[in-house]
Amino acid sequence: MTDEINSVVVVGAGQAGCQVIDSLRQSGYEGEIHLVGEEPWLPYQRPPLSKKFLSGEIPAARLSLRPEAFYEKHKVQRHLGVRATALDAAQQELSLSNGKVLNYDRLALCTGGRVLKLPVPGAELEGVHYLRNIADVDAIKKDLDLARNIVIVGAGFIGLETAAVLAGMGKCEDGCTVTVVEMQERVMSRAVSPQISDFFEKLHTQHKVKIVMRRGVTELVGSNGRITAAELSSGERIPADLCIAGIGISPDISLAAQSGLECKNGIVVDEYAITSDPKIVAAGDCTIHPNPLLDQRLRLESVHNAIEQAKTAAASMLGERKAYAQYPWFWSDQYHVKLQMVGISQGSDTIVTRGDVEQRQFSLFYFKGDKLIAVDSINRPADHMQARRILNNQIKITPVQAGDLSIELKEII
Ligand code: NAI
Repeated sequence: MTDEINSVVVVGAGQAGCQVIDSLRQSGYEGEIHLVGEEPWLPYQRPPLSKKFLSGEIPAARLSLRPEAFYEKHKVQRHLGVRATALDAAQQELSLSNGKVLNYDRLALCTGGRVLKLPVPGAELEGVHYLRNIADVDAIKKDLDLARNIVIVGAGFIGLETAAVLAGMGKCEDGCTVTVVEMQERVMSRAVSPQISDFFEKLHTQHKVKIVMRRGVTELVGSNGRITAAELSSGERIPADLCIAGIGISPDISLAAQSGLECKNGIVVDEYAITSDPKIVAAGDCTIHPNPLLDQRLRLESVHNAIEQAKTAAASMLGERKAYAQYPWFWSDQYHVKLQMVGISQGSDTIVTRGDVEQRQFSLFYFKGDKLIAVDSINRPADHMQARRILNNQIKITPVQAGDLSIELKEII
């Protein structure tokens, strides 16, 4: 990709899209940049949506990743509140919902994910919400004051972070209820080990959130167009005047698939974030990419992935080769507990605890054979930071060293 580049189009005004722009300008690219985003907002941070934005501690204005002045200074042409509707890769043309057509020398697809909708009768009732963007949270907030019985579907990150915020707002007191309905055997099963699931289930129960496991919602029942109850697969009916579903996302591959790019549970990219068309890169939740350190293909839904893959994608557009090869990391805040995860713990055969579980300050080190593969930390941010360095630099650490608090992790590094 070394031919002359005068026009870059970025589809998707999220974390990855914003980072692509930032990295392009930091690398000295001076040509045109177009940013296309279907929401009316400049790129903003999503993590606070289910945390301090939902609780009202921070306003929408504080969510922006970069101020308006950044886009002015870097001459980024914004097409916001506009959808990219068709991609003609052969002609290098992108059509927009406002009728405009943008030509590109390089295209970055940072289209993210779409929330999965509840596939049950009654899902269209008033009072049934999802939580992915600012408008979703604004709509939830409007319903919150009057809500007494809240049902959350899905005990993933959205479901549990939301439950923690609602409990903190007193929604589990004075006859009000917050019930989380999860179809799997344990909470956050996609992302964490059984030990961490167990810890968080107890934490929520202590805060009076009710967690109902191994059940799905089969129907949302309503009266006068508004939700009144949720019926579960067990036949049980729980009263509900507000329902928030966090049952996952699917990668938004629509443009890529329509234009013939290779897609397989995500837009297929190589370690340089290049798609099956060398003029098109992709980054963030929408991609599936090879991770050379883990020796597997991953589709990740995380801020870290969006930022780092976007840096690689920007470099690739300018003809530089900078492989994206890092251990993935994630975090979640629930009540006063900070969970930080690095690596993928699935497949470990030995788990070593460092710290004090009772005091809610511990890390779990996951080994496969004698190799450390992941570390989950609860309220031990220093462990998390050191674990990232240990894993990314492939530094040897033994289970005995991991569990011994008298040995500083920095000493090992
Ligand atoms: P998720 O995939 O983390 O969790 C979805 C949960 O819903 C799973 O536990 C699944 O078993 C359950 N589920 C699915 N269908 C169900 C049904 N019909 N009935 C009951 N349970 C059902 O997805 P989530 O929480 O919706 O999050 C969406 C996205 O936002 C993800 O990309 C997530 O990683 C991201 N996110 C990340 C955060 C973080 O890293 N701290 C915070 C909030 C969201």
